[in-house]
Amino acid sequence: MPRILLLASLLLVSSAAVADEDAIKLKAGPGHDQVLQNCAVCHSLDYVRMNATFMTPQVWDAEVQKMIKAYGAPIEAGDAKIITDYLATQYGVPAPAPAPAKAGN
Ligand code: HEC
Repeated sequence: MPRILLLASLLLVSSAAVADEDAIKLKAGPGHDQVLQNCAVCHSLDYVRMNATFMTPQVWDAEVQKMIKAYGAPIEAGDAKIITDYLATQYGVPAPAPAPAKAGN
């Protein structure tokens, strides 16, 4: 294979599968530092990005509370609020419209 093609395909592969923790960057904004300090202790920060597509502010709030109450994350109440606001703003979706009816067809 010509060298340039090989290089191009390697680049494609590596940008599609970002597994390196150093490569996980969260968006800048108020609360970013608190998230980095408090949320990367137990698991990858990728959890934030993976869940972002369906997290409303209420669900992020519940998620942060779960990390604290169920999993024992040592996060102070003030920081929890800052973190929740950051997550809802940067990685959230608006509060949901009523769910479409699934039953029946
Ligand atoms: C004390 C350890 C700990 C800390 C600190 C922590 N988590 Fe978690 N988190 C867990 C565990 C345990 C799970 C569930 C098991 C797994 O999937 O790894 C989890 C799972 C998650 C998930 C996946 C969905 C779910 O509920 O399983 C998200 C999103 C998440 N954490 C976000 C956060 C955020 C945001 C913070 C910072 C506020 C945070 N975590 C801090 C322990 C922690």
